[in-house]
Amino acid sequence: MDKLIIAIDGYSATGKSTHAKALAKKLNFTYVDTGAMYRAVTLFGLNQNPKNIIDLRLLNNSLNQIKIHFEEGDEEQQTFLNNENVTKVIRDPRVNKNVSMVAAQKPIRSFLNDQQHLLALDKNLVMDGRDIGTVVFPNSFCKFFLIANPEVRAKRRYLEQLEVGFEESLEEVLQNINSRDNQDESRVTSPLQKANDAIEIDVSNLNINRVFNMLYNQVLKKLESIKK
Ligand code: DC
Repeated sequence: MDKLIIAIDGYSATGKSTHAKALAKKLNFTYVDTGAMYRAVTLFGLNQNPKNIIDLRLLNNSLNQIKIHFEEGDEEQQTFLNNENVTKVIRDPRVNKNVSMVAAQKPIRSFLNDQQHLLALDKNLVMDGRDIGTVVFPNSFCKFFLIANPEVRAKRRYLEQLEVGFEESLEEVLQNINSRDNQDESRVTSPLQKANDAIEIDVSNLNINRVFNMLYNQVLKKLESIKK
């Protein structure tokens, strides 16, 4: 039987990963953070050049040297790039600034799309990203698209970054969020957009438990309907 995929797409800092993790735990599915995969490729590109400037041609030609895997940690899932734990460094503002440019590259999207399909060979997944319901797994049995106003998202990301020790002002975070949204929405390959059959939720004024319950109830309904 085909494995089950729950796709959670949407704008950055809408809580996609928080909810995807919680759903995965509750349903005993595996969580996959596809943003972390794009971030790991971006980090690889930054590390290729001593000046930390990404050479896209070089990076596109080096994809066969990149191995990304995830391991369960005590608290959060750990991301590995060529066997090095990069969980924290991929959240660095340097990576934030470059990741949308990297994610617009067709060869990189195709490389990560293949990796994402391999992960689904033997596991039920909750996958969060930008193009899961539209491109990677258009047949996902349950799709969500999370939106929220940019100020709410910037505040959320700002607090998250403070907690892990990255100092950026709220204005810088907001600027980065707006610029990434623009780049993610306007790219030619797999732009950020809602799948026709995704359930859209505006989380701007909803608390986290309320959103989780909405998602979970929808998943239960969809599971019921595919059993029939
Ligand atoms: O979810 P995130 O903020 O960690 O994602 C980082 C970047 O990666 C984001 O700006 C868009 C890109 N991305 C993408 O293009 N496609 C995905 N499936 C996941 C992330």
